[in-house]
Amino acid sequence: MDYIHGTHEEEQERLFILNRLLNERCLEKIELIGDELTLDIGSGLGVFTRMLAHRLFYGRIVGVERSPQQLEKALKLSRSDEINLPVEFREGSAYDLPLESAEWGNFDLVFIRFLLEHLKDPLKALSQAKKAMKPGAKIILVDDDHENFRITPSTPAFGFLWNLYCKVYEKMGNDPFIGRNLVTLLHQAGFHDFKIDFVLFGAAASESDFFYYANNLIGILAGAKEQIIEVGDITPEVFDANLAEIDGWSKKPDATLWYAANWAEAIC
Ligand SMILES: C[S@@+](CC[C@H](N)C(=O)[O-])C[C@H]1O[C@@H](n2cnc3c(N)ncnc32)[C@H](O)[C@@H]1O
Repeated sequence: MDYIHGTHEEEQERLFILNRLLNERCLEKIELIGDELTLDIGSGLGVFTRMLAHRLFYGRIVGVERSPQQLEKALKLSRSDEINLPVEFREGSAYDLPLESAEWGNFDLVFIRFLLEHLKDPLKALSQAKKAMKPGAKIILVDDDHENFRITPSTPAFGFLWNLYCKVYEKMGNDPFIGRNLVTLLHQAGFHDFKIDFVLFGAAASESDFFYYANNLIGILAGAKEQIIEVGDITPEVFDANLAEIDGWSKKPDATLWYAANWAEAIC
């Protein structure tokens, strides 16, 4: 498996909730005019792709997704839309974008969220994205730097499992800290005029969404259980005991989860 999260039903549910927690915060940072020809690469369940489509009055958006399972779910969600959105989902790879010849060099906006951390060659994906864009077009990257993650009150089990989770990324040939390197990657791919920001992802126990943030963390670790056990050379019992400690943390009245996803923009 070369995608750490997989595409099974519980994982799709986690990704769906993650979208609910993040999308408004991302949307408010994108200065859309409404006529952009937009590309969302690694569009997953297409929840944010469709949200962007709602804002595109004269433009349209193409979502590219490699996994047929994610694509199927995206199309299912799309069918439940009340209006006909200017969105199209295509199966294909970030390394070899499924674009028509007239589309190359014509996109005004490219959005790539939580994809580069899963790629062995993120620069190759950015070079493809650049080929798809008009000169002067904007690219927006949102990705993880797993070192940004803190939970309090401090819980040794979190540090232990999170460190192993990052090692799983490295073993797969991926960069768990890619968020901090986004501008360097954009620079290497030939983009200019960089801008950075953070997208808050977190809450205190007394906030209504805290449960979902905590469950997301537990779900990420539980989903990578086999790989964590292997990379850490630990037993399933040790893994379970540490995860139970994190679950215990999530029940504390003063529990907080602090995380921020890295945001980087540039011009083609
Ligand atoms: C963590 S999800 C993020 C989905 C979406 N961008 C979001 O923010 O909700 C990453 C997605 O990238 C897809 N993916 C992984 N490798 C890919 C590749 N080489 N080309 C296109 N999509 C890919 C996965 O199947 C998955 O749906």
